[in-house]
Amino acid sequence: MMLATITILNDEPYGTISPRLYGHFAEHLGRCCYDGLFIGADPEIPNIDGFRLDVIEALRAMPTPLLRWPGGCYADHYHWKDGIGCDRPVRLGMSCGLQVLDTNELGTHEFLHLCELIGAEPYLAGNVGSGSPEELCHWVEYCNAALPTSLVKQRHANGRQEPWGVKLWGIGNENWGCGGNYDPESYALEYRRYSLMTQHVDPSIEMVACGHDTDWNKRCIDKLRNHMNFVDHYSIHRYWINGGHGTEFSADDYYALLDEAEKTEDFITETRGFLEEASNGRKKVGIALDEWGVWHPEARTWGPGPTASSNGDYSQACTMRDAVATAVGLEVFHRQCDSLSMANLAQITNVLHAPIMTDGTSMWLTPTYYALQMHKRHIGQTACRVSVDGSPSLPNGTSAISATASPGGVTITNRHLTETIEVSLAGIYTDGTLLTASAANAQNSASSSPITPQPLTVSHDGGRVRIKIPPFSLATLNP
Ligand code: AHR
Repeated sequence: MMLATITILNDEPYGTISPRLYGHFAEHLGRCCYDGLFIGADPEIPNIDGFRLDVIEALRAMPTPLLRWPGGCYADHYHWKDGIGCDRPVRLGMSCGLQVLDTNELGTHEFLHLCELIGAEPYLAGNVGSGSPEELCHWVEYCNAALPTSLVKQRHANGRQEPWGVKLWGIGNENWGCGGNYDPESYALEYRRYSLMTQHVDPSIEMVACGHDTDWNKRCIDKLRNHMNFVDHYSIHRYWINGGHGTEFSADDYYALLDEAEKTEDFITETRGFLEEASNGRKKVGIALDEWGVWHPEARTWGPGPTASSNGDYSQACTMRDAVATAVGLEVFHRQCDSLSMANLAQITNVLHAPIMTDGTSMWLTPTYYALQMHKRHIGQTACRVSVDGSPSLPNGTSAISATASPGGVTITNRHLTETIEVSLAGIYTDGTLLTASAANAQNSASSSPITPQPLTVSHDGGRVRIKIPPFSLATLNP
């Protein structure tokens, strides 16, 4: 068995790992918001004010420090006034090519109540595509104003006295596509108008501008260069789409997915370069990776893959491979914690790379849920540099063993598809946990959840510890 050595370096830490890097995303799409989170008054399923109790408890334990809502593409069709008060219209819910009946039962009060229940900071995505600056200004006023305006009195009448003080506001979503088909210069002009008017309503809010690919980012940021005081965060999305089928994948597919996850780092550093050049030291703009995750071909109608046809509700298999990709992503986020201001996994229940799945009265946790939980020790901590020696390589030449470390402990990933690797590191770690599976395509389900963290066997060798990590597995060591 190969032996890899991990060294945790004490100088030049990457920065502090903000809780916002452990954010999530709930869109009115498929069975994410309705069903996964909100069930209304379903007597069959225990709930708190219409939200599934089992899911609430899982979200608290995950944890869920930040939650973005209501989209996604849905946001640019959403009119927030439809979702307040007693008499709510039934609309066409539209996102990603789906049309559904939208009862608006889950609106602003309900979403912000959910955030309070699970301890999440809310992040609201405004409507640019079919909305107006006035509509967004009114939403900010409704949520955050204290003066007794008509909107604030309406909020009181609807049951909320105190302003919520929502800090994070997205100015549209993917406005290069579903959010209005803008070109980058036109969007930048819209952004300037929306952000200025919105900030007049509440100068304390943080606004998120919409980014896209290299060309868009260059041009959009260039157009915003004299208005960077209105850009607090710059949104980019990264879906990992090159891993073949969700469960029937080859070794090449397996490694291609992990490679793609790793390359998110290059995209972050490229975007950082554009932002730094444009702001020229006047302001630090954070990068909001406010949609990320694995998107398998069974759940999309575009991009590479053997079956490019949507399964209708954007659900997909969530296997052990996806959990390893999650760990690769989290390691990138920790290394980039000085540039990234938030990251939101897409999506929180039932849709795409979901940590939580539901089906009727059943709820289960995917391997990705546990991958996130095995990293939670690092939230709020200093991200340390780590070096790995002696590890076998992956086909792209990178190390099979990777790790992230902070004063909260160490989380180690064995990315290799076939090799168990022994790992040695200095330190006084007495115990830890291991997340492993019988196969890289194994998953949990409503009837059986074999993939859960198990106690890790730690052996001691002088001032060092040794652990064995099976292929496609994660381990944590407690300080
Ligand atoms: O997460 C699904 C969709 O992916 C979102 O609605 C959109 O923003 C992105 O294209």
